[in-house]
Amino acid sequence: MADAATLRSRNADFWTGAAAGWIRHADRQDEIGRPLGAPAMDQLAPRPAERILDVGCGCGGTTAELAAAVGGTGAAVGVDIAEAMVTAARQRFPTDRYPGIQFHLADIETLDVVPGAPFDAAFSRMTLMLLADPVAGCTTIRRSLRPGGRLAATVFRDGSVNPWLFAAMLGAAPYLGPLPHLPVDEEPGPFSFADPARLTRVLTVAGLTAVTITPCDVTMNAPDDADVVAEWLIEVGPAGAAYRAAPLAGQASARAGAARLLDRFREPGVGYRLPAGLWLVTAIAAAAEAPSATAGPPAIRHRHPRQDEN
Ligand SMILES: C[S@@+](CC[C@H](N)C(=O)[O-])C[C@H]1O[C@@H](n2cnc3c(N)ncnc32)[C@H](O)[C@@H]1O
Repeated sequence: MADAATLRSRNADFWTGAAAGWIRHADRQDEIGRPLGAPAMDQLAPRPAERILDVGCGCGGTTAELAAAVGGTGAAVGVDIAEAMVTAARQRFPTDRYPGIQFHLADIETLDVVPGAPFDAAFSRMTLMLLADPVAGCTTIRRSLRPGGRLAATVFRDGSVNPWLFAAMLGAAPYLGPLPHLPVDEEPGPFSFADPARLTRVLTVAGLTAVTITPCDVTMNAPDDADVVAEWLIEVGPAGAAYRAAPLAGQASARAGAARLLDRFREPGVGYRLPAGLWLVTAIAAAAEAPSATAGPPAIRHRHPRQDEN
């Protein structure tokens, strides 16, 4: 596994390169990708006048949803490492239409606290598993919450329950230039929190308590348009930058290749049903700076999918 500095600069470079695709598909991502964050949004149940942090807010869709829930007397603050995405978020959701909304360009791992802290709650959709140093990032989240403040987030489980992700990348890759480094071991990547024990350890070391990790299976419903769906999934995945750099003929072949492997998720005339296996993560910010050796272990409730199947 690479050292922390290498992982951090690799992460920053990846998201700088990925931003154009995420911006291009931002409306689609908000609409079709909503189920990826819905369990955490429901769990968080943002209330009027609350101050809420959105970690890895991307192009701002979930921050806007939080802003609508907390209203003009509250605050919804999105943080993201990709400058172009933060700029897009500000343009898509201006403060005159979304009072209380703010976006900050920052690496969550290197902040002491997020501007606007303390927050009543923190939300994150599909970001925590991508952090180069997840303990550092989750420690910033904990420090940015008021004591007793709550966290609700979603991350992917493992690849076997998210098969469309491989389909889009593998179908497109033969027609494109080199892909970015793919993660090994516990390096940041979609499945770096496949093991819930690791996720629990990260959150606990970051000083969060009452950790719960619950499996959620959701479905993303996409329209019956093979070209559009293939392009969206290529562009928001690891092959996105290589796709945009490819000549038009290569792009068309990449879309066709991805569409072939995505066909198993297609119901002709109806659309695509893309199954996603998530962990819903909840936790509370401890009152003290960090759990002390004498305070005993934090309360951790753990549910593995196999237990749910019984
Ligand atoms: C998979 S995308 C999810 C974006 C958004 N939450 C959504 O669901 O549409 C992950 C996001 O996390 C951001 N990100 C990655 N590492 C970060 C870090 N260290 N600090 C802040 N944002 C980060 C990326 O720029 C990207 O926008």
